[in-house]
Order: sequence, then structure tokens, then C-alpha cells
Amino acid sequence: MILAESGQKVFAAQYASRSRPFLKWAGGKGQLLPEIRERYMSVLDSSITKYAEPFVGGGAVLFDVIGRHDFKETYISDINPELINAYKAIRDNVEQLIAELSVMQESFLPFDAEERRALYYKARDEYNAIKINDNALESQRKAVLMIFLNRTCFNGLYRVNSKGLYNVPIGDYKKPLICDKENLRAVSIALKNVEIVCGQFTDSESFIDEHTLVYFDPPYRPLNKTSNFTSYAKTGFDDEQQKRLATYVDRLAAKGAKIITSNSDPKNVDPNDDFFDRLFSNYKTERVEASRMINSKAESRGRISEILVTNF
Ligand SMILES: C[S@@+](CC[C@H](N)C(=O)[O-])C[C@H]1O[C@@H](n2cnc3c(N)ncnc32)[C@H](O)[C@@H]1O
Repeated sequence: MILAESGQKVFAAQYASRSRPFLKWAGGKGQLLPEIRERYMSVLDSSITKYAEPFVGGGAVLFDVIGRHDFKETYISDINPELINAYKAIRDNVEQLIAELSVMQESFLPFDAEERRALYYKARDEYNAIKINDNALESQRKAVLMIFLNRTCFNGLYRVNSKGLYNVPIGDYKKPLICDKENLRAVSIALKNVEIVCGQFTDSESFIDEHTLVYFDPPYRPLNKTSNFTSYAKTGFDDEQQKRLATYVDRLAAKGAKIITSNSDPKNVDPNDDFFDRLFSNYKTERVEASRMINSKAESRGRISEILVTNF
């Protein structure tokens, strides 16, 4: 019995280490992973048995960290109900999801541009209709459509209009991998014992204690008025929310949790703007390099700094 259990654990750990984000997500942390990994590895020891990521998004850090350490408990959350629905569908019903997504992939790929357009917009309408009707019986279908749209849409964006309807146009990929079976199965296994919550970042408070590593990746504070990356969901994340998060970090740090927080660096555009330096003055604030769009024009992509705050 003990052998079987430990065998299962090794199997799950191997799968967890192979899992990666299953959606492209605005603000995805793939690029900053080496910097974030270096910091969390320095604090992971046997006393850290829990992991929390309250702004999980696409989960680049989640999938990286859970494959590298034996956490007994993991908690993830996001305010976006569609994203959370997709995480739960993969955790609880991956084979059905794969079957449905494979059917969509097999129809989409052989089509010409015109037929692909028709299928994409039909899927988008179906997705939005399910969203409006909010019928729990259709949540599995909604997850399938969300992954299909994310894989085939323009730039892999998730964006909704003022009515909450997904409005991203079709993208232009020759052979998109719509159903990545191996990764979906690896993600499903990696998420098996993970608590998945749709809610505010502060809902994680009772989970987090002195044995917990916490990574906060809130919507970035916009560097200027045109780079508004804060509208992931219908609600924005303004300076008041950034301050609320800093107060929350103080409360969790006082409990003894090990915390990493990332954000944009306002000094990229205004060297006198020390918003985060003041907000996190009790902690270590480091500046690391990233390649990002500084404003909405692609040609202004350049190397800029971002901040990483740690309390260890
Ligand atoms: C920068 S993204 C996280 C990206 C993620 N690290 C990744 O690698 O894809 C921020 C996420 O916070 C979520 N969010 C925004 N406001 C929130 C809130 N008040 N509480 C919890 N999540 C929130 C958004 O839906 C979004 O998915």
C-alpha cells in the first residue's frame, strides 16, 4: 500500500514537471521565469510545504514551481471565472475535454481561410451564448471553446467588451496546436490536489501560513496611459488596489509566509516615480530586465526593467 502510494506520488511529480501553461495569457511570466525561479529556489526547503498563487492567470510560475518541489497543498485563484472554469475542467474531466477539442482541431486544420473564419466565429458565438446563459451544465463545453479560441485567435488574447462578451478576432496561424493532449494530461495530473478558487486575491488569507511560498503577479501598474494592461476582467486594478495588495503582503509577511511579488517599474518612464519603492519599503525590491511592449506599437518593444519584491 505504502509502495503504491509513493509510486503514484513519483508518477504525479514526473507529470507535474512536464506541465506548462495551456493558455496564452496577457502578462504571462514565461520570460521572467529564470529570475523568479532563482528567487524561489533559494527559499524552498522542507519547512515550505504549501504554495499559493492568488493571481494565477496562465500559471507560468505555478507549473514551473510545482514540478520542482514537493508541496503538500497548493492554492490558486483568479478573478476571471472563465479561466478558473478551464482549470477545473482540465483537473476534473480531461479526457472528455481532449475528445471534444480533438474534434474541433480535426475540423479546423484542413479548412481553407474562409471555412476557418466561419468555424472560428461560430465557436465564438457559441462561447458567448454559454457565457450569457451561465448554465453550469455547459461549463465543460465552455472550457473546450475557450481553449479553441485562445489557440486560434489573434495574438492569443483574452479580451471582453463592456457586456462581458469575448470579442477577439481570428488569428493567422498556419497550423495551430489546438489540442496538446500530452500537456493537457500533464496539467490535469499536476492539478489533482490543487484548490482552485474564483475570487479576490485576499480570499487566500486563511490558506497562507508560515509554511507557504506565495507568488503575487497582479495586473501590472500601467507605465503610461496607452499601455493599459489592467483590463483582464471587467474590473480594473488601480493604484488603490496595488496599495491593498501591499497591505495584504504585510499581513502575510507578519504570519511568516515567504512572498514574491512582481510588477512594472514606473522608473522606466519617470525616474522620480518611486510608487513601489515606497509601497514595499520593508522588503527587498530588485529590478530585472524584460522585453515588453512599452506602448501599443509593436516597434517600440524594447528591454525595460520590471520589479521583483521579496521578503526573504
Ligand atoms: C498579470 S496576470 C497573471 C499572469 C500569470 N502570472 C501568467 O503567467 O500568466 C494577472 C491576473 O490577475 C487576475 N486578477 C485581476 N484582478 C484580480 C483580483 N482582484 N483578484 C484576483 N485575481 C485578479 C487577472 O484575471 C489576471 O489573470
